[in-house]
Amino acid sequence: MKTKIFGHRGSSGTHPENTMAAFIEAEKVGADGIELDVHYTKDNQLAVIHDDTVDRTTNGIGLVRNHTLRELQQLDVGSWFSGEFSNERVPSLQEVFSWLQDVPHIQLNIELKYVALDYVQFEEQIVQAIEKYNVMEQVIISSFNHYALKKVNELNPNIECAILYMERLYEPWDYAKTVGATSLHPNVLVTEPTLLIGAKEAGFPVRVYTINDEDKLKKLMSAHCPAIITDYPEKALRIRKEIQG
Ligand code: G3P
Ligand code: MG
Repeated sequence: MKTKIFGHRGSSGTHPENTMAAFIEAEKVGADGIELDVHYTKDNQLAVIHDDTVDRTTNGIGLVRNHTLRELQQLDVGSWFSGEFSNERVPSLQEVFSWLQDVPHIQLNIELKYVALDYVQFEEQIVQAIEKYNVMEQVIISSFNHYALKKVNELNPNIECAILYMERLYEPWDYAKTVGATSLHPNVLVTEPTLLIGAKEAGFPVRVYTINDEDKLKKLMSAHCPAIITDYPEKALRIRKEIQG
């Protein structure tokens, strides 16, 4: 089984992160999947953006939570990266789902960002959108907030959930089961051979984030890591071809 390549925030090394341009590019170069981040807007809509403010990646300022989706979509989310992307807008999760329906070979890892106390009905909205667009087979939900995963699992146990973590957890597959997760998304810094071996025995896919370094990519592919998440899917695919054919 070849190591699956996920574009982190799309092909974010070559295109502005979390934009349709970055997602389309990742699919075009042959990635197996895409990772993106979701926040909640002022009007409780699902917006695809990493930070909890718009400052770094748009020409606006302030919290995502203080913007309606319509206000967010008036911002330019491409120019900070390069002038050629000045037409890019913050995608809604629904827009991404519409596109996903046309690329059934692509897996979509939705990372739930979370502002404690404030994101009321966030998981419900995500699950409803997945069901409405009929993309459950393509979707993996992950989060550092494992309460959110447990909630998703209670709402719809057929949606795949993955724990995100960056500690050296002992036998994390046993812990993951307690929140209804069936896969592991560890930081590369805590991914060691024993983790890959134990997870394989336990039947838990491992998708390691975020790896851009060529040597690390080679090591993980040589160790038959099930999947990696990278800003440079095209480069990772070239390395995979060298190592795994
Ligand atoms: O989902 C993996 C990775 O995206 C987690 O960290 O901060 O890049 O969203 P971050
Ligand atoms: Mg993320």
